[in-house]
Amino acid sequence: MEKIIVKGGNKLKGEVNISSAKNSVLPIIAASILSGDLSVIENAPMLEDVFVICDVLESLGASIKINKENNNISIDTKDINSKEEPKADLVRKMRASFLIMGPMLSRFGRVKLSLPGGCNIGSRPIDLHLKGLSSLGAQIYLGHGYVEGKADRLIGNKIYLDFPSVGATENIMMAGVLAKGETVIENAAEEPEIKDLANYLNDMGAIVEGAGTGRIRIKGVSELKGVTHKPIYDRIEAGTYMIAAAMTRSKIKINGVDEEHIKPILAKLSECGINIDIKNGIATTYGDVDIKPVDIKTMPYPGFPTDMQAQMMALLSLSKGTSIITETVFENRFMHASEIKRMGANIKIDGRSAVIEGVKGLTGAEVRATDLRAGAALILCGLAAECNTQISDVYHIDRGYVDIEKKLKSLGACIERINV
Ligand code: EPZ
Repeated sequence: MEKIIVKGGNKLKGEVNISSAKNSVLPIIAASILSGDLSVIENAPMLEDVFVICDVLESLGASIKINKENNNISIDTKDINSKEEPKADLVRKMRASFLIMGPMLSRFGRVKLSLPGGCNIGSRPIDLHLKGLSSLGAQIYLGHGYVEGKADRLIGNKIYLDFPSVGATENIMMAGVLAKGETVIENAAEEPEIKDLANYLNDMGAIVEGAGTGRIRIKGVSELKGVTHKPIYDRIEAGTYMIAAAMTRSKIKINGVDEEHIKPILAKLSECGINIDIKNGIATTYGDVDIKPVDIKTMPYPGFPTDMQAQMMALLSLSKGTSIITETVFENRFMHASEIKRMGANIKIDGRSAVIEGVKGLTGAEVRATDLRAGAALILCGLAAECNTQISDVYHIDRGYVDIEKKLKSLGACIERINV
C-alpha cells in the first residue's frame, strides 16, 4: 500500500505548473462519443479518473491512445456501438462515467449502464440527470442496479433544474446537441468547466449558447465532427497550491491560472489577508502573513467552490481566531475534519457547519485521505506541521492531482511516496 510522508517546516520557493482541469476533461472525453470521429485532447491531465473514463469508452468500442510524453489523448469513437455496455465496475469506480449517458442516448438512442455508486462525500443521486433526459423524450428504466435509456430520437425541450447540478447540466447539454429542435436548460450550473465543454461541442459543430450562465440554449444539429481541444487549467489545483504557499508563509509562482475562474477563491483568500497577484496567467503569492479567520459558505459557481472546502479548513486551522465553514453542496463533506484534528486542529462539526478555532501550530500524525480534496488538505497540513505526517489511502489524491509530491518537492517541500 502506498503512503505519502510529509516532513513539515520547509518554506516553498520557485514555480509550479498547473495541469488541465480534470472536471473539464472528463465530460469532454464523454462528449467525444457524439462525433463518431477522431478527437485529440491536448495537455490532458494524466490522472486515474481520466484513465477510467478512457477505459469506459474503450469498453464501448472506442480506440484511444494516451501519450504520456506530450499528454495528448486521441479518441476515435467511430467504432463505438450501443450494443456494448460499459463494465459495471468501471462505472461504479467513478461517478463521472455516468456522463456517457447523454452522448450515448443522443447518438444511438440507447444506453445501459450500472448506477454510479455514492462516495464518502454524499449519496450522489442522479435524479436530475434522469429527469432532464426524460424531458428530452428518453424512456428511463431502473432495475437490478442498472439504468437503461431508450429514445427513437431525442426532442428538444425546456428544463428547469431544481439544483444547478454540474453533471446534470453536462449530461443534458450533450443529449441536446443532436436532439431535434431546441433545448433550454434553466438554473444550469455555471462552472467554468461547463463553458469549456460547450466550447468543445461548438468546435465540433454544435450550437450551444449561454454556457457559463444560468440559462443554456442548445439547437440540435444533425452531426458533429472530431476536433482538437486544449482544456482550461485546473482552478482547484491552483487554489490548492495557493493555500500551500499561505500555510508555509512562502512566496511562489503558480503558472496556469485563469483570473476569472479563480475569482471566488481569490476573494476568500484576500479576506484571510492572503493577497495574490495574477498577471498573464501567472499567480504570485507573498506568503509571510498571519491568516485571518473568515466565514465560508460553499455554493455553486460563482460561489465559493466545495472542492476547495477541505483545503480552506486546513488553512483556517492556523488562523488567528474563529472561522465557520458551511458546506451547502454535499451532505457529508467534513470527513477530513477528524483527520486534521489528529494533527492538533480545533474543529467542531455541527451538521453542515464546522467551527474552526485557529491554533498556533499543527503536529505531524498518521492520517487517512477520505476523498481527493481531503487528501490534498492533509498534505497541506503536513507541510505546515511539526515533524512527519503519514497519509494513507493516497489513491484518492491521485484521482485529482497530477504528480502532487513531485510538484511540491520541486517547490522545496520534504515529501515522498513510499510503499509499505
Ligand atoms: C461535479 O460533481 C464535480 N465532479 C465535483 O468534483 C464537484 O464537487 C461538484 O461538481 C460540485 O461542484 C466532476 O465534475 C467530475 P453536482 P457532480 O451534480 O456533477 C446533488 C472533485 O473533487 N445532485 O453539481 O456530481 C448532489 O447530491 C469532485 O473534483 C442531486 O441531488 O456534482 C450534490 O449534493 C468531487 N441530483 C449537488 O447536487 C442529481 O441528479 C451537487 O452535485 C445530481 C446532483
